[in-house]
Amino acid sequence: MIDLSLSEEQKGLQKLAKEFAQKEITPVALQYDKESTFPGDIIKKAHAAGLMNLTCPKEYGGLGLGLVNASLITEELTAACVAIAGMIGINSLACGPILAGGSDEQKRRFLIPLNQSGKTASFGLTEREAGSDAGSLKTGAKLEGDHYVLNGQKCFITNASYAAFYTIFATLDPAKGTKGICAFVVPREAQGLSIGKIEDKMGQRALNVAEVILENVIVPREDRLGNEGEGFKFAMEALDEGRVNIATCGVGIARAAFEASLAYAKTRIQFGKAIGTFQALNFMLADMAAAVDSARLIAWYAGSLADHGKRYTREAAQAKFYATDVAMRVTMDAVQIHGGYGYTKDYLVEKLMRDAKLTQIYEGTNQINRMVAGGALMRG
Ligand code: CAA
Repeated sequence: MIDLSLSEEQKGLQKLAKEFAQKEITPVALQYDKESTFPGDIIKKAHAAGLMNLTCPKEYGGLGLGLVNASLITEELTAACVAIAGMIGINSLACGPILAGGSDEQKRRFLIPLNQSGKTASFGLTEREAGSDAGSLKTGAKLEGDHYVLNGQKCFITNASYAAFYTIFATLDPAKGTKGICAFVVPREAQGLSIGKIEDKMGQRALNVAEVILENVIVPREDRLGNEGEGFKFAMEALDEGRVNIATCGVGIARAAFEASLAYAKTRIQFGKAIGTFQALNFMLADMAAAVDSARLIAWYAGSLADHGKRYTREAAQAKFYATDVAMRVTMDAVQIHGGYGYTKDYLVEKLMRDAKLTQIYEGTNQINRMVAGGALMRG
């Protein structure tokens, strides 16, 4: 028999995150959405509360949690506001390539100060002409003696404006495709690194997303992760974990939309009855609850494979597209259940629907994630 009940330790993590979310995020989520501002104070508090750097090993200053335990925290934070939760959680993606490809010395040098200070970093892969086809990136890395010179432009980089450092992917030779890509750690203060356009987004408005411009940026050899040409693999490994996190974001958003809809459907009276008692809406609520539960299970499943040291690329991809499609569907139904009110900014579900859309796009569009999962199926 599979026991899905949570241990006392897991319940403790969930409770800590829920209480933090209710106290520090829920009351201000709509305000941050409206003003599209950086939740720096909330990040500081999350760090002090022990809710950051969840999966980074303890020896490098993280909490050393497994992916399933981390998802218990992420779901609670995300149910309050996925954008603020995303800023709190960005280090797991940004530092993933260091954990995947860095030496022990590099992990200590880059991760311990970051994790201890409560600062945040960024993952720099995407470019204007290299989004889904990440392997075709053009940012160049030229070896000159004991250092590389980086030139290029990254876009859609989460937390770009506030990062202490960036894990930047650059190519020695675009003709080599994925085999030419190297991963580097580049500090914010590196000469020639600047922030370009800050995106004005439909949803997840507290999530800072901007361009990173690299003009003759000098990076010492010792800040390259792994060997030349291994960078793409480190990016993909970081995205495996990232996609489980995004699946969990989908769960958190969908759960918030379902809970708001259930409460509304119990109290909104039309034709003399609570609207949730009409079969048309009652069946919608039943479908929403089933979708939230199944999305959570598929995310936990992918996370548990990672926690047991198994390859989980396919399961992470399927959890990502499934759970975020659930988030989109459930939030659209939530707006429908709320009727005209749901379409106004007075009700949370309007924000949730806008926020959900991005989860189907970032960390690989859901079409790319279906390609990853489908490709793995055909390879057996
Ligand atoms: N783990 C380890 N290795 C992997 C891997 C994984 N998950 N996925 C691929 N690889 C390896 C392959 O085995 C292959 O190695 P070999 O050649 O030695 O066999 C190599 O990487 C190249 O793989 P592919 O041939 O599959 O590469 P591809 O060019 O066909 O691309 C892709 C595959 C899945 C489409 C990839 O380009 C991709 O994931 N695209 C989407 C990019 C993405 O998710 N971007 C999001 C950026 S972050 C973000 O959204 C914003 C943010 O900040 C939150």
